[in-house]
Amino acid sequence: MGKFDNKRIVLGVAGSIAAYKAVSLLRTLVEEGAEVSVVMTLAAKQFVTPLTFEVLSKRSVSTDLFSESETMPHLRLTESADLVLVAPATANTLAKSALGLADDLLSTMILAARCPLIFAPAMDGEMWDHPSVMEHTQVLRGRGVTVMEPEDGPLASGQVGRGRLPSEEAILNTVAACLSRQHDWAGQRVLVSAGPTREPIDAIRFITNGSSGKMGYAIAQAAAHRGAQVLLVSGPTNLPSPANCESTSVVTAEEMQQALEDKFSWATVLIMTAAVGDFRSRVVAPQKLKKDEWAGESLDLERTPDILASLSKQKTHQILVGFAAETENHVENGRKKLHQKTLDLVAVNHISGPDSAFGNDMNELTILTKAGEILHLDRAAKPLIAHRLLDVILPLALHRALDTPRISNLRSL
Ligand code: CTP
Repeated sequence: MGKFDNKRIVLGVAGSIAAYKAVSLLRTLVEEGAEVSVVMTLAAKQFVTPLTFEVLSKRSVSTDLFSESETMPHLRLTESADLVLVAPATANTLAKSALGLADDLLSTMILAARCPLIFAPAMDGEMWDHPSVMEHTQVLRGRGVTVMEPEDGPLASGQVGRGRLPSEEAILNTVAACLSRQHDWAGQRVLVSAGPTREPIDAIRFITNGSSGKMGYAIAQAAAHRGAQVLLVSGPTNLPSPANCESTSVVTAEEMQQALEDKFSWATVLIMTAAVGDFRSRVVAPQKLKKDEWAGESLDLERTPDILASLSKQKTHQILVGFAAETENHVENGRKKLHQKTLDLVAVNHISGPDSAFGNDMNELTILTKAGEILHLDRAAKPLIAHRLLDVILPLALHRALDTPRISNLRSL
């Protein structure tokens, strides 16, 4: 039994000196049972001949968008693929994918692909650190694409730096994690709240917070990718609705509470990432308040409902996951919330300093469970953190009939 039996993988090879390492990678993928189709760029053919890949994959190698032997190879290639792996991925390949450019077979195929995508970059260290490469990497990660970190070490230029193709082992582990995540959330119904809430003061002013919604959207997207039915209830954000999720927009904490209560009995898992405002103005002026109409310089505030605490009291079968936004005493404060709101799991966001989770594309989480476990998810792009968090929640969701199951199948990338 191979690790990748019956898996269909498209291996994209771009023009880097590291293209020779794709030969060994292909060999291992095939030995592990994968059916691999190789697509090469014209530049890659300067480094390795297609014949090498053809012999090892036992399939013809595609290089030409306008092939005489078949029509629309870019669509045919990924039609039934489980995964597209681009190794090595050059700065040019990353840029074209981030921008949606499609001027050769590999880039056109990537644009047409609807399966998970992994890029294993290889380039000079100066290039990897260039702001445009950093930007493109961020854009791709923000879309849920896995862009691996290249390795440190000696580079083809003779310099030492970060830019080496990740090791074969790291690439194979990433492929395995990606494939095993496919459809593992099928059958789960996931209710996700995201973003800030906004509490009006008058016709134009409101109280809100700096939550961007990125973490919640990434979780919704990741759960949907993995086969869950997902309903996202979101406060005001600038983000596009995630693909394959049902989305509901709300503004105030009360509206968010209503939307979540309506769907709570449907859900098997509630993931409450929203940064719900804790206070609202007791009186809301229908018009814009003029400066001289303010009574003194203070606002008369009242508490908003604690949505999670109230849903927790209505819990029948659902797994409840809370987030805690903390600037200090992360574990202690997280544990308090876990118990006070009777949650199955709480994920503590670190929200102080320049690396604050708020608005950032990266995040790190400290996870506390009802069973007393503490896990730390190291800093990574939010889509990746979303997958890791889902890895932790899944065993709880699968065994939710049992009492406090322990986390057993943690995977890390
Ligand atoms: N939450 C909620 N309703 C509120 C406030 C928070 O449902 N009115 C949820 C959040 O979505 C999050 C969890 O409760 O999942 C913890 O939120 P957080 O803002 O960290 O804590 P609070 O409970 O508001 O406590 P404090 O502000 O004192 O830290």
